Amino acid sequence: MRQRLLQYLACRACDGSLELSGVSFSDDSHVLEGELACTSCKAGFPITRGIPRFAALEKLDPGKAATAANFGWQWQHFTQEDQKYADQFLGWIAPVTPEFFKDKIVLEGGCGKGRHTQLAAVWGAQDVIGVDLSAAVDTAFAATRHLENAHIIQADIYQLPIKKRIDYAFSVGVLHHLPDAHRGFLSLASKVRAGGHLSAWVYGAENNEWITRLVSPMREHLTSRINPRTLLHLSKVPTALVYLATKLVYRPLNRVAGGAMARRLFYNDYLLAISGFGWKEQHTIVFDHLVAPTAHYIPSGEFEQWWRDIDATEVSIQWHNKNSWRGFGRV
Ligand SMILES: C[S@@+](CC[C@H](N)C(=O)[O-])C[C@H]1O[C@@H](n2cnc3c(N)ncnc32)[C@H](O)[C@@H]1O
Repeated sequence: MRQRLLQYLACRACDGSLELSGVSFSDDSHVLEGELACTSCKAGFPITRGIPRFAALEKLDPGKAATAANFGWQWQHFTQEDQKYADQFLGWIAPVTPEFFKDKIVLEGGCGKGRHTQLAAVWGAQDVIGVDLSAAVDTAFAATRHLENAHIIQADIYQLPIKKRIDYAFSVGVLHHLPDAHRGFLSLASKVRAGGHLSAWVYGAENNEWITRLVSPMREHLTSRINPRTLLHLSKVPTALVYLATKLVYRPLNRVAGGAMARRLFYNDYLLAISGFGWKEQHTIVFDHLVAPTAHYIPSGEFEQWWRDIDATEVSIQWHNKNSWRGFGRV
């Protein structure tokens, strides 16, 4: 944790100011160990291995705890970086562009291994704070600790220990994994200052009926319950099918006759979108779909209502890859 992060932090419980004590520093000027204490309610939050830890993990309900455990394992295993993350990220947050980040105070809800926190920092954010509930924060911290303007904290998106001074908050692929996705959205929006902006990308209900009927029951009752290491190996079978289909069919066919034939293929937009990724990344994607204990598929009407609930203006809601919703608006 860099000391400059303190200016954005508030007590998770009462929103009071936090004070830093008992600190030990690393050679690269991070607070590695220490304590944050609320000056109002006196609640204390430890800093361990460079990360402020606000999540009361022992008090989490079982669903959330299982989600954190599985994603924590995922992002500690799949730590690779990929050049294509930037384009993929811009697809999830369009119409936002890299220039938009310049000099903004940015918050990422559910940062996983920190790949988007890293991009926001590199694209010139004044400061970017990546928040995640799981042990993925350790991977995210390792990936971003060299960046002066990137900060990682471990916290529940429902109880963000952040002051209401964020210029731009975004959340990619996280809200639909919460017990109550809408509540996570409201919590994230509540930290954006008046006139600031918000982006959210979620799985759509539309065009995903085959997943909710066939894949979700298997995910809920089987794959999210087995040991992640076992799932890592089992998931190589569906990954091989996806890999072969994308490399041998979807990608080549989309290059023929302007993609006219490919447009008739099952789930073409999405499979084409991931077809440029290599084996490791496609394995991550397949594993990600099988490991989550909770996944909601959000209908467009419900997603639109979320933005009305926060009185957002200049709202842009778009159908992404014909299987998900991306939203952007001014809060
Ligand atoms: C599919 S991953 C997406 C990670 C990242 N946004 C990305 O695209 O690389 C979902 C992430 O949400 C996090 N998460 C789940 N529930 C959360 C909660 N209640 N608060 C904060 N993060 C949460 C998980 O730990 C996981 O890292």
